[in-house]
Amino acid sequence: MIDDTLLTDIRSRFAHVAACPFTGPRVFFENAGGTLTLSSVVETSARFAAIPDNQGRANGAAQALMDVIARARAAGADFFNAPDGQVIVGESGTELLFRLVRTAVTRQGRGVVLGSTVEHPASRSAAAHWAGVMGLEHRLVPHDDALGLVTPEAYAAAVTPDVTVATILHTSPVTGMGMDLPSIARAIRAVAPEALIIVDGIQHASHGHIDVAAAGVDGYVISPYKVFSRHGYGVAWVGERLTDLGPEQLHGGPARNWELGTRDTGAYATFSDVVDYFDWLGGQVGSAETRRGRIEDAGRAIRAQETRLTEAMLHGTGNLKALAEMPGVHVIGGTDNQAREGLVCFWAEGHAAADIVERLNTEGIRTHTRKADHYSGNILTPLGRDSAVRVSLCHYNSVAEVAQFLSVMADILKD
Ligand SMILES: Cc1ncc(COP(=O)(O)O)c(C=O)c1O
Repeated sequence: MIDDTLLTDIRSRFAHVAACPFTGPRVFFENAGGTLTLSSVVETSARFAAIPDNQGRANGAAQALMDVIARARAAGADFFNAPDGQVIVGESGTELLFRLVRTAVTRQGRGVVLGSTVEHPASRSAAAHWAGVMGLEHRLVPHDDALGLVTPEAYAAAVTPDVTVATILHTSPVTGMGMDLPSIARAIRAVAPEALIIVDGIQHASHGHIDVAAAGVDGYVISPYKVFSRHGYGVAWVGERLTDLGPEQLHGGPARNWELGTRDTGAYATFSDVVDYFDWLGGQVGSAETRRGRIEDAGRAIRAQETRLTEAMLHGTGNLKALAEMPGVHVIGGTDNQAREGLVCFWAEGHAAADIVERLNTEGIRTHTRKADHYSGNILTPLGRDSAVRVSLCHYNSVAEVAQFLSVMADILKD
């Protein structure tokens, strides 16, 4: 769906696509650490940083700022496919996950908090912490080491009617696998229909579409720097049932307000830029008549392009040897995993992951070492690994860049 002409157009919309401002030309395969930034986001950030006015005043500037926020919230509602609820901005994805989990667990104050071992520590730590404070059980559903994900069946086996809060990771930033979110939510609701379900969608957001209505969840959190915007804020959709519990609040302030303190209008404006980008891309690859339809078309095109790239990496392109066929290479989650979302994590017998990452970096290919620490130990330790190489792609990457990677890898592994 994304041909060479469109790929050129796509790449022209991002900053620092082919070269790092610090180190020069490079292939960017570190998208799970933060995607490329839209040039529109860079321009919007600078524009809003210069505005001194605050919201909520009786003047034209304040009104313009509030209009920007209202437009971004409406764009966000389409992005999440949110039937109701609120799109809010917080300090970071992690902070928003803590806030939603804290509100859900402390206000429920009873029952079991359910999560899974595949989760990033953001949601897992929040649930463990607040379940501990409230004296509640924090039950972890085991993930499947071979597949690099947790299944709906595993959630179904662990859920009991007393589950009041559940957390789900949409996509793992270590294995790269996407969970079957609607089926996991259905498995939870089949047994605990009133459970509040909070989703960490931070790794998923740049890789395809989000649909909170179809998933039937109560909260969904993303980090904009991992979906073409910048650092400095997180975005969440919060459903009505979660808001009904009563978020932390300024005394006398609006009871259903989740946002604490003055908003950065520029953050909202840059999130609008992200939705505009999905809207534009959807228009290039489909003919949908609504913004939501175009966002969905963009999601399909992104997924198709990323599959093309990871297939080229795993199974070879041109006459280059496939990563999966290189000596001693083990790909986490297997080489034909349909749940893969643009990310390949591997180790190679006899080569330290950090050495491979350093060699790739020297040859102008940026990847990242995942260590068995508090971020990735839940995935790597059960596999008996202390580290692995993470290669994370995005739809703006090209098969030529994958070929460059394969050729350097072949060289590294022949040493
Ligand atoms: C799945 C997932 N959850 C949470 C986080 C933490 O996000 P942040 O540092 O933006 O708060 C990350 C970061 O990469 C992530 O991939």
